[in-house]
Amino acid sequence: MAVEASAPGKVILFGEHSVVYRGPAIVLAIDKRARVVAQKRSDSRIFFDALDLGFAGYFEGGRYHSVVGKPRRGRSLEAFNMAAVKTMEHLGVESGVSLSIRSEIPIAVGLGSSAAVSVATVAAVGALLGGGLPRDEVCSLAYEGEKVVHGTPSGVDNNISTYGGILMFERDVGFERFELDHSPPFIIGNTRWKRSTRRMVERVRMLRNRNQRVVDDIIDAIGCIAGEGLAALRRADLERVGDLMNINHGLLASLGVSSPELELMVHASRRSGALGSKLTGAGGGGCMIALAEDASIPRIEKAIQRRGGESISVNISHEGVATREVG
Ligand code: PMV
Repeated sequence: MAVEASAPGKVILFGEHSVVYRGPAIVLAIDKRARVVAQKRSDSRIFFDALDLGFAGYFEGGRYHSVVGKPRRGRSLEAFNMAAVKTMEHLGVESGVSLSIRSEIPIAVGLGSSAAVSVATVAAVGALLGGGLPRDEVCSLAYEGEKVVHGTPSGVDNNISTYGGILMFERDVGFERFELDHSPPFIIGNTRWKRSTRRMVERVRMLRNRNQRVVDDIIDAIGCIAGEGLAALRRADLERVGDLMNINHGLLASLGVSSPELELMVHASRRSGALGSKLTGAGGGGCMIALAEDASIPRIEKAIQRRGGESISVNISHEGVATREVG
């Protein structure tokens, strides 16, 4: 028997970085998914096939052994290995498993690809070896994997990948899920510059250590924007949502997490008619998000592409993690 689990990527609309400390973030699941197919093995290896990304290998006794690609590629699999190991510990079973990873989510650009793979890994292993896990357990086991890559993540990514839809998430508080009766037209611009979330979070932490009162005020202002932004989104006041995205971007830039490429694309989108635009995710590269009326979308997409970016059209996905038997 084999089990396939899939989980969505995400965009953060408001509240990245501030959510690491306090206050809410507003996050949307997107219709780009990571898929993991799990199968039992007769040995004790946890074998990963990520051949779409050019590598495959296995963990045995906690060590990575490369089969295809450079051994250092194993570092990006450590989180998923940890997610699989923690899931087996949780189930009280020991088994070798083969995990085949395929993903539509671009990696390391702030769209939640690693959390989506961690969530799908836990769900696939949980279904294969334990007959399925409830979502809250999938979410918290995936968080164990995320901690390996990101240090002390807020938990926003594994929550949205597990539950899907639109969440207001707050660290140590939890989340509330929202539905909209309209679909706001968002455009994502990918600068194609990969960056490490851990490093960007560390950069903000160092700035805060040197300037605590000022940075804490900025963190609180972003939390306030997230609350107001959700209210505006729910009443379909897109002009207000746009204003708040612009203010949120300015505050993120003041925390040092923008980049020249992001600035170019954020401002080009506004000049091409976006109601608002901001970086999304950890910043320092990665992606930006723009909100626009339908008529302006082609101009904004062209503006992003002319600045060297890739424009990605996404819809909100209401489906969180899902599993099914295959083959
Ligand atoms: O990994 P990214 O780019 O989706 O960023 C996650 C959002 C942060 O707030 C920067 C970090 C976190 O743990 O919440």
